[in-house]
Amino acid sequence: MKNILQIQDKSYTFTPPTSLIDLLEDTSPAHTPIPFGCYAGHCAACMVTVTEGVELLSEITPFERYTLSQQELDQHIRLACQLSLVSTGTVSMHPTYS
Ligand code: FES
Repeated sequence: MKNILQIQDKSYTFTPPTSLIDLLEDTSPAHTPIPFGCYAGHCAACMVTVTEGVELLSEITPFERYTLSQQELDQHIRLACQLSLVSTGTVSMHPTYS
């Protein structure tokens, strides 16, 4: 089974466990579909909506619980800078405010 992360029109293959930031390698605006800011779970610039494979992701971090509302968490909105891909399969997401 191939492990695929789909972010809008870009696809990445991964070997779990890996952090999303490590997978993207170059998170500069020209090279990533996700806008990053603080990289520490505070600014919410990297909010993504997970549309497939939420069960393949790492547990919600304390930073995500602090920065995101329960409603956002219930809608599978996560902070990309806090995410790791921990199981095999396909994950799809898009920046929440794109
Ligand atoms: S980059 Fe600031 S919360 Fe993720």
